[in-house]
Amino acid sequence: MANAGEALKGLVLAGGTGSRLRPLTYTRSKQLLPVANQPILFYAIEALVAAGITDVGVVVGDTAREIEAAVGDGRALGCRITYIPQAAPLGLAHAVATAAPFLDGHPFLMYLGDNLLKGGVAHFAQRFLESDWDAGIMLTAVPHPEQFGVAVVDERTGGVVRLVEKPAIPPSNLALVGVYLFRPAIFDVVDGLSPSARGELEITDALQGLLDRGRTVHAEQVDGWWKDTGKPEDLLEANRLVLEDLEPLRAANASVDAESQVSGRVALHAGVVVRRSTLRGPVVLGPGTIVEDSFIGPFTSLGGGVRVVHTEIENSIVLAEAVLEDVPGRIDGSLLGQGTRVTRRRAAPRAITLVTGDHCLVEVL
Ligand code: TTP
Repeated sequence: MANAGEALKGLVLAGGTGSRLRPLTYTRSKQLLPVANQPILFYAIEALVAAGITDVGVVVGDTAREIEAAVGDGRALGCRITYIPQAAPLGLAHAVATAAPFLDGHPFLMYLGDNLLKGGVAHFAQRFLESDWDAGIMLTAVPHPEQFGVAVVDERTGGVVRLVEKPAIPPSNLALVGVYLFRPAIFDVVDGLSPSARGELEITDALQGLLDRGRTVHAEQVDGWWKDTGKPEDLLEANRLVLEDLEPLRAANASVDAESQVSGRVALHAGVVVRRSTLRGPVVLGPGTIVEDSFIGPFTSLGGGVRVVHTEIENSIVLAEAVLEDVPGRIDGSLLGQGTRVTRRRAAPRAITLVTGDHCLVEVL
C-alpha cells in the first residue's frame, strides 16, 4: 500500500569485478575511477541525497577497504552510510538479498555504483512513494538493446508487461538503466531465484518474478542522458557528458601565465600552474597539476599532481601523478592510470619501449 510517510532507504552497489575496465580495476575499484575528477560512486550517492535519501547502504566486495576509505561514514556527502559486504559478486539480485537486514522492510532505491544519470532520481523516488507499485524501473531508448535488460511497457499505463535480459531479438529498444525502486515484495521473489546461464542472480529475473505473481512494476523513461561506465569508452563518454556542464573555477592560487591562452569552461584547482600553453575547455585540472608548452583540448580531465610538458592531449582522462612529456602526436581518447609515464625516447635506437600491466591497450602510429 502507498504510504507517503514511509522512508526510502538507499542501496548503492559497489561490489562486482569490473573486469571490462582492466587493467585500471586491478589496482582500484571501478566505482572510484574518476569522471571529471570525481569518483563515479560519489555521483550516485549525491543523486540519492538529492532525492532526500539519507540512510544509504553500500554493497562492497573485494575493494571494500578502498571504498570505505574514499566514502567514509557519508557525512561529507550528507548521508549516513552502512557498508554491506557481499561474499562474492553473484549478481544484482544477490546483492539485494545480502542487504535484506539493512533494508529491514523499508522501500528502497537501488542505484548501480558505476552508473551516471543526468536527470537524477528525485522525481521518480517521489512518484514511487506516492504510488502503490511494487517496483519501479527507469528505461531509456538505446541503439543496441541486445546488450541490456529490455522491457516491454504498456504505453497507456506505464506498467511493465515483460522483461528480458540481453535478448537476441529485442522486443523493444527500451533498456533498463541502473536505478530500481522496490517494496519488500521483491524478497518473496529473490529468495526463490536460481542462477542464470552466467551464474548470477539476475535482477531482471526478480522483476519478471514480480510480474509473474501479478505484482505491479512501473516504468518511466529517464530525463537527459544515462551512462553505464562498464567499459573504457563508456568512461570517456561519461567524462564528456559531465564536462559539458562543468562549472568554471580558478582557485585563488592557480596560476596561468601571460603567454597561455584559456578558452571555454575550465576548472583549475588549487596550485595548478599553466605556462606557455593553450587550454581549450571544457577541461578540468586537479590540484597541483603542471602544464608547460602544451595543448589541453576539450573534454580532458587531468587528476591531481599531473605533469604535462611539450604534449598535446584532448578527450582523455588522466589519473593523478601521471607524467606526459615530449609526446609526439596528439593523445586522444585515452585513459591513463595513476603515475603513468608517457615520454619520447631521446637516445637511439628509435624504438618503442613499453612497460605495461596485464590487459593494457597501446595503439602506436
Ligand atoms: P556490473 O557492471 O554488471 O558487473 P561488474 O562490476 O562485475 O563488471 P564486469 O562485468 O566488467 O566484470 O555491475 C554493476 C554494478 O553493480 C557495479 O557497480 C558492480 C555492482 N555489483 C555488485 O555490487 N555486486 C554484484 O554481485 C554484481 C554483479 C555487481
